[in-house]
Amino acid sequence: MINKAKKSPRVTLRALFFGLLTVIMMTSAPFVTAQKVELAVDTAKAGAKIDRNIFGQFAEHLGHGIYEGIWVGTDSKIPNTRGIRNDVVAALKALKVPNVRWPGGCFADEYHWRKGIGAQRPVTLNPNWGGVTEPNTFGTHEFMDFLEQIGSEAYVSVNVGSGTPQEAAEWLEYLTTAQQTALAKERAVNGHAAPFKVGYLGIGNESWDCGGNMTSDYYLSQMKIYSRFVRNFNPEQQEKSHMLKIAVGPGGGEARWTEWTETIMKAYQHHTWSWDIDGLSMHNYTVVKWPPAFKSVGFGETEYAQILKSTLEMEELINKHSAIMDKYDSQKKVALVVDEWGGWYAPVPGSNPGFLVQQNSIRDAILAALNLNTFARHADRVRMANIAQMINVLQAMIITDKGNMFVTPTYYVFKMYVPFQDATFVPVTFDAGTYTNGNISLPRVDAIAAKDKTGKVWLEITNVDPNQSAEVEVGVVGIAAKSAVGETLTAPRVDSVNTFDAPNAVAPKPISAKVQGGKLTLKVEPKSVTVISVE
Ligand code: AHR
Repeated sequence: MINKAKKSPRVTLRALFFGLLTVIMMTSAPFVTAQKVELAVDTAKAGAKIDRNIFGQFAEHLGHGIYEGIWVGTDSKIPNTRGIRNDVVAALKALKVPNVRWPGGCFADEYHWRKGIGAQRPVTLNPNWGGVTEPNTFGTHEFMDFLEQIGSEAYVSVNVGSGTPQEAAEWLEYLTTAQQTALAKERAVNGHAAPFKVGYLGIGNESWDCGGNMTSDYYLSQMKIYSRFVRNFNPEQQEKSHMLKIAVGPGGGEARWTEWTETIMKAYQHHTWSWDIDGLSMHNYTVVKWPPAFKSVGFGETEYAQILKSTLEMEELINKHSAIMDKYDSQKKVALVVDEWGGWYAPVPGSNPGFLVQQNSIRDAILAALNLNTFARHADRVRMANIAQMINVLQAMIITDKGNMFVTPTYYVFKMYVPFQDATFVPVTFDAGTYTNGNISLPRVDAIAAKDKTGKVWLEITNVDPNQSAEVEVGVVGIAAKSAVGETLTAPRVDSVNTFDAPNAVAPKPISAKVQGGKLTLKVEPKSVTVISVE
């Protein structure tokens, strides 16, 4: 009995071991077998320019987006230049951020610019976001200084909600006139004699909701007034690089939103000399249900698949609104400007729910790549986009805590995509295959390609599948490929994140493809974003 008792566990363990091994081998077979994907890139069939502005950012007076994220003040121990933190500027410079939308969001439609200039700044309220006070220490000049430091352009949203056309017109005169008006002199007294450049003007924000709950007709008449009177006087912006005016557009795909797009675009078709727009905004967050309930970290594969399924709805939304725009603007003069997009999840426990604090995982990197690829495929109409938001808010590039900061997986995607800025879209054909989780099926891979100004071809491959790598074979027509190198971003878990303790847990690594007979072959890891240049 004793011996038996001693022996039998060994036998059971052996049996268990081999049994388990068989089960593992059977169930893990698909996990180790890479899926084969063939991509065909035809560099001779160049498409539209991928406007660098689709890599735009959004910085609202919300939580620690501005205060602490950008502005620490000149007296701060955190290294800064004129109050703007140096570490954040250095990180953002590497992204070549084309434009920054500011000051909101919902904040913009309650913002009175005069409170943010001069030596005396009143403390006001920020009722939209956490009910905190707004010190107004970061205002017009600080924003423009920040842009200069990171090398970006201004996308200013003017207050159509609680403001007036005159207030907005005076703000633009203050910003842009070179003539010696009272406002220009005031600007000079406040430290900037030369006119500022304002590349983009947002005429209101979500005027159908937090921006004043307007009907489309009411907004249209307001928008025409702002378009007429809110002028840019900068002498350098009168011709070629004139300021682009962006009207409020839809926030979804339902009838209410298609009606909004119809109203604005129908009017645009018959616009006169006295008003004009260059863009129609569209907001679309990946949220699945409202209020945002998905966790930004500590989730599993099901939530990974649900969020990515939801993010792919961007394609349908762009198609829907582009079709309406095409009816009234077949020459695609008006850009569809997706100036708020990204994942919106439940606030991190313990944070102020009004501050929209969330972590940022490899899932967000995949989400970002899928959306950027969608914008690139619609480059003829989607010529600008702004991820929400730049720092510490929603799907951020950077997360700070007092003097510390780390960059997120989304940051790395934006960095890896820099070569696509203003590159020419090149079609890629492929059979994406399918990744399945429960009742969710998604295209397993996605890819885009483009040719930069030097003629170099860039290829991006997203492997959505979190379990299986992909053996990618790329046939490139139009160039004799000799080498293909780049970077790849992946992580061990679907919810892997960077933290203050492990800031480089999710970071890109070098990758190269084998090149033979003009064909490239490379293996991309599960849940990865890869960008390579082909020469
Ligand atoms: O990005 C957060 C908020 O989302 C913006 O202020 C608003 O425009 C949108 O509803």
